[in-house]
Amino acid sequence: MAQYKPRMTQTLTLRRPDDWHLHLRDGAMLKAVAPETARHFGRAIIMPNLVPPVVTGAEAIAYRGRIMAALPENTGFSPLMTLYLTESTDPDDLEAAYTSGLITAVKLYPAGATTNSASGVRNFDNVRPVLERMAEIGCPLCVHGEVVDDDIDIFDREAVFIDRVLDPLRRSVPALRVIMEHITTSQGVEYAASGGPDLGATITTHHLVINRNHILAGGIRPHYYCLPVAKRETHRLALLEAATRGPSNFFLGTDSAPHPDHAKEAACGCAGCFTATNTLSILAEVFEKAGKLDCLEDFASLNGPAFYRLPANEEMVTLTKGQPVCYPDHITTQDATVTVFDPGFPLHWRVD
Ligand code: DOR
Ligand code: ZN
Repeated sequence: MAQYKPRMTQTLTLRRPDDWHLHLRDGAMLKAVAPETARHFGRAIIMPNLVPPVVTGAEAIAYRGRIMAALPENTGFSPLMTLYLTESTDPDDLEAAYTSGLITAVKLYPAGATTNSASGVRNFDNVRPVLERMAEIGCPLCVHGEVVDDDIDIFDREAVFIDRVLDPLRRSVPALRVIMEHITTSQGVEYAASGGPDLGATITTHHLVINRNHILAGGIRPHYYCLPVAKRETHRLALLEAATRGPSNFFLGTDSAPHPDHAKEAACGCAGCFTATNTLSILAEVFEKAGKLDCLEDFASLNGPAFYRLPANEEMVTLTKGQPVCYPDHITTQDATVTVFDPGFPLHWRVD
């Protein structure tokens, strides 16, 4: 008699996740990447680093309109808009945008830190009045935490930022609610964990998967290059431990950042990993390997809304474990391809 093995189907049902840090770009790129996020996520914090950046409420209204037009019909996805903080941001315009519900947060880029950050902040004294207003009205500040001075080693940028900029800034405006974006170090984890209820931190999918060897050992891999750059393995393990804590102030912000392949595979390739397409399958695999699948919902669906003082999504999503899931290795825009992040291991969790 034939022996039949029982087929175990493992499923995981969680509140629909949100992405608390996402780059959607504009134009043809926006049209290509928006459906990738809308397929699985309920909401996303939309980064304002367009060229030119989204600085005013009026610009955020216009950008939101372009995003809505790029989304598939009948999507339940909502973009949560942000403004790009500059040294000439008008606090009244910011307050009106926040209190009307148009924006959910404001983004701080140190000038020169990353892609399209030239209009960012050089002298933090010049933005103190805006930060004070934000503290007054409860508007959160999303922070790209890197010091970019030439004399700071790129692998030390985050730790130096915490000491030199973030900690003094939080002491001088104590009521400001701050999100440390895309943390990459154990110092980032420790600082975020000790910051109390007004400090949160996002962790990307790719920083839970790669360390700096993946970028540099045995050949240079431009699709693993992002900012902040991935650090050594001990830091990745610290991030994994933080992401899998369960209820906490650590939550998912993919920093999915599409660039045309020709701009990444270049003598001076730009920073960004495109993870929108396969993030949930990757996270399920990573959490399962860590023995923490039961903490995925906290990280991807519950901790973020709790920090942002928003309700969790009502809808649920189900992931099913089975044969390896195939994702496209790239997506296509009108005039370019964008490589989808390759985690380097098979993915078994399919999003139904
Ligand atoms: O890798 C990154 N890419 N890091 C950022 O901070 C910006 C982003 C982008 O816009 O491409
Ligand atoms: Zn980003």
